[in-house]
Amino acid sequence: MTVLVFLDSAFPDGRPADAGVPQLMINDLGVTRGDGIFESLLAVDSVPRKPDAHLDRLASSAQLLELDIPPREAWERAIATALALHAEAEADDAGHAGRAAVKLVVTRGVEGAAAPTAWVQVTVAPDAAAQREAGIKVLLLDRGYDSLSAARAPWLLLGAKTLSYAVNMAALRYARQHGADDAIFTSSDGKVLEGPTSTVVLARERNGVRTLLTPERRSGILAGTTQDALFKAAEAAGWELGYGPLVPEDLFAADGVWLVSSIRLLVPVRSIDGRELPFSAALNSELARLADAAL
Ligand SMILES: Cc1ncc(COP(=O)(O)O)c(C=O)c1O
Repeated sequence: MTVLVFLDSAFPDGRPADAGVPQLMINDLGVTRGDGIFESLLAVDSVPRKPDAHLDRLASSAQLLELDIPPREAWERAIATALALHAEAEADDAGHAGRAAVKLVVTRGVEGAAAPTAWVQVTVAPDAAAQREAGIKVLLLDRGYDSLSAARAPWLLLGAKTLSYAVNMAALRYARQHGADDAIFTSSDGKVLEGPTSTVVLARERNGVRTLLTPERRSGILAGTTQDALFKAAEAAGWELGYGPLVPEDLFAADGVWLVSSIRLLVPVRSIDGRELPFSAALNSELARLADAAL
């Protein structure tokens, strides 16, 4: 079941609507131009995980697109309304609503109108337990931009979570058509970037020092909220942290590589372009536990 709640200034707690019938105008710029932004976060038993980090990133995406979005409080209330409706529909006898995917969407609105269209959507979260346990195969795919494009060409909106995800979905289809489960984008100058829906994290131990690394954000990738929470927890547990730049050889030389994101969480990468990577079930559980505690 999908719950839908529109943000609407006439309804302080949001305006619930029927997700089973058409609700958008055909000239909404989110539909006609993919002009808008979104966030996906996890809720467990109706409690959203790291909502502040997602609302902060929604605000920074909005700034990059010069999009005037509803105030934070309106989002918080609409999320609470949507999660309560979801729990009414999905909760078990003990009152547990389980894992839900919460999507926040804002478009530039109907052509010619001044107001954005904004809504919260809640569905049962897809079950990724098998991937978290067994891992995935990944292909390296060239994104076609160099690692300095974000600063040189801000209109590319690299680093914003825009609704224009057709390219990301095409990369996933390409990976699946070629025997893999997922992809890692590289820049045209050979740097490791991110997955189409995830942040890349690698672990390595050198001379007894354990370090978690992720590609540098200024290379035009999304600032991952899961990676950030994991890094904070890992630092508190004694890990060193590093922020790129990374090249594919760094992935092959690591003790482990993960794709991390809010709904699927930490998924170990078992091979890249058919080359097997080292994998430790113990390290996988350790990092999953750290992330879980942080979230
Ligand atoms: C392109 C991209 N990078 C990274 C991420 C991971 O971000 P987060 O951990 O905040 O979900 C996502 C999540 O959807 C994404 O779409």
